[in-house]
Amino acid sequence: MSVPVPLGDRSYQILIGENLLQCVAELAAQHAPAHRYAIITDSIVGPLYGPAVVERLGGESRCSLFDFTAGEKHKNRGTWQELTDAMLAAGFGRDTAVLALGGGVVGDLAGFVAATFLRGVPYVQVPTSLLAMIDSSVGGKTGVDTAHGKNLVGAFHQPAVVITDVTTLNTLPRRHVCAGLAEAVKHGAIADAQYLQQLVSQAKSILDLDPSAVIQIVQRSVEIKAHVVAQDERESGKRAVLNFGHTIGHGLEASSRYDLLHGEAVAIGMLAEAAIGTGLGITDEAVPIALRETISQLQIPVARPSGLQLDELLQHMEQDKKKRDGSVRFALPARLGEMARDARGDWTHLVPRSVIRSAWDLST
Ligand SMILES: NC(=O)c1ccc[n+]([C@@H]2O[C@H](COP(=O)([O-])OP(=O)(O)OC[C@H]3O[C@@H](n4cnc5c(N)ncnc54)[C@H](O)[C@@H]3O)[C@@H](O)[C@H]2O)c1
Ligand SMILES: [Zn+2]
Repeated sequence: MSVPVPLGDRSYQILIGENLLQCVAELAAQHAPAHRYAIITDSIVGPLYGPAVVERLGGESRCSLFDFTAGEKHKNRGTWQELTDAMLAAGFGRDTAVLALGGGVVGDLAGFVAATFLRGVPYVQVPTSLLAMIDSSVGGKTGVDTAHGKNLVGAFHQPAVVITDVTTLNTLPRRHVCAGLAEAVKHGAIADAQYLQQLVSQAKSILDLDPSAVIQIVQRSVEIKAHVVAQDERESGKRAVLNFGHTIGHGLEASSRYDLLHGEAVAIGMLAEAAIGTGLGITDEAVPIALRETISQLQIPVARPSGLQLDELLQHMEQDKKKRDGSVRFALPARLGEMARDARGDWTHLVPRSVIRSAWDLST
């Protein structure tokens, strides 16, 4: 099964199936032919899938494995520097392609390495977490976090192909399965109310990682994301709708010192942002109700970190890059499956601090 991402000469396919890693050599050769492959992975995924990928790609003469300590805390410039230095030391040149083998942290970091190494080399996304399959491996946003906030240093760099082998999910810890589903809920909320219903009716098969149920949701989610990205690759307008739940979500991740997973933070963020929308009279009252139901059926935790101060959260949000003209802006739904524009036709909305405060209190 494949889903196209139509972006002119940067177009690519998202290939989704079981046991696709067995064909990684043929697929990489077809979509990203290179003399050598730099496989970038983390300290958890590397030992699980690295050796088989190295072997299939033709062994040490054709590729090398570069890994870093797993976790969001390592998605930073220090790791980027270590990876690029190691690739230079190993003699990788312009005839290289990068293969990002892992979750969203690996994808964002390896994509940023590919965007910058020798001013840019092609890369292949091989997502192994549900979140990366459903969302982060598609769309070409790459980058690292800084002390000032998430993803503040990065580049747009589209992959040559996305190879999604759902079989790899069998080793993904349950907490990460649930967290990843938050992005699927987001896709339903912004573009497809029926998809939200599907997530609820198939919750059990999805949580049991039934391959056909998982393939269906990965397909629908990436279709929605690809459709938005194709309209606005570099986020000058419509792509901002993909940030629903993320203005508060990114602030929460940073305030929790990244103890909260990205998907968990986005789930809390969507509930709070939906309450902002209803508070402003922009969002239909049915939206927060449906979101809460779907999030609960998918067993995504929405408890807020203890000791979390709203002021600290607001401070992190104000540092985030979605800020424009000195104020925080939000992507808000109008109704289920449809996002709202502001009076100027903008896909993001200016929200006074007082509205954020009361929505935050109301949406616990
Ligand atoms: N670029 C984008 O458009 C975009 C979109 C959404 C999220 N993101 C980013 O994605 C990141 C979150 O991604 P994530 O949730 O995948 O985090 P992650 O990469 O940290 O993966 C989660 C954990 O699961 C482990 N793991 C991954 N695959 C596994 C497997 N098959 N078996 C066992 N363990 C496995 C990882 O080692 C890690 O410990 C955040 O940094 C977020 O900002 C980027
Ligand atoms: Zn996200």
